[in-house]
Amino acid sequence: MSANLSPIDAAKYAAARKACDYVESGMKIGLGTGSTAAWLVRCLAEMVREDGLKITGVPTSSRTAEMAQAAGIPITTLDEVGRLDLTIDGADEADGNLTLIKGGGGALLQEKIVATASERMIVIADTTKRVETLGAFPLPIEVVRFGWKSTREAVAEILSAADVMDTKITLREADGQPYVTDEGHHILDLHLGRIGAPGRLAQSLLSLPGVVETGLFIDICDVLITGHGDGRVEIR
Ligand code: 5RP
Repeated sequence: MSANLSPIDAAKYAAARKACDYVESGMKIGLGTGSTAAWLVRCLAEMVREDGLKITGVPTSSRTAEMAQAAGIPITTLDEVGRLDLTIDGADEADGNLTLIKGGGGALLQEKIVATASERMIVIADTTKRVETLGAFPLPIEVVRFGWKSTREAVAEILSAADVMDTKITLREADGQPYVTDEGHHILDLHLGRIGAPGRLAQSLLSLPGVVETGLFIDICDVLITGHGDGRVEIR
């Protein structure tokens, strides 16, 4: 599966392949969203097909559900299974405390619900996602469509007093239209440059009624597997 991959795909594949070592038959697994998680789905599907691995997947997005189903991984819903053994997902940034920015693919709400319903969360990523300080990647927050402009104003006020470098806010779009998540919300991307106090920022944002969830994953990730283009992996 790894032949002729670009260095970035080889790195994602290496991380996804390594994460499969943590998967055992009988497990209920949260399946992440994004290009790295897509490698995981392919690897798990191969194990189901060729090694007789028996797992049940809970996808974190409609995209992942379609992909897992097409690949032959049995899937169900979180409500069917209640708790999961493990979630494996990608990330947009991860710092030294394993605090993450997620949501670049627009699935942060379901991703966070699935991850927090899991005994363990493993994040898989290429090395470009590892950072000293979070914030170079825009922080996505999921907001209710009703009154989203007022919510944006309230978010701007919070940012003006937060420990961040920049304060630009953009409404995410797809095909020239406001992006709508699987749960029917919009996403605001907060271009912050640097996030000095992720916990405090998350708390302030969540105090607004229009904010459903933020892409800051704090104390959720247990293991970070980063892959290199030459196939090496680092685990922390
Ligand atoms: C989707 C996510 C993804 O995990 C994140 O955007 C990383 O994606 P990729 O593996 O494609 O870089 O949070 O909402």
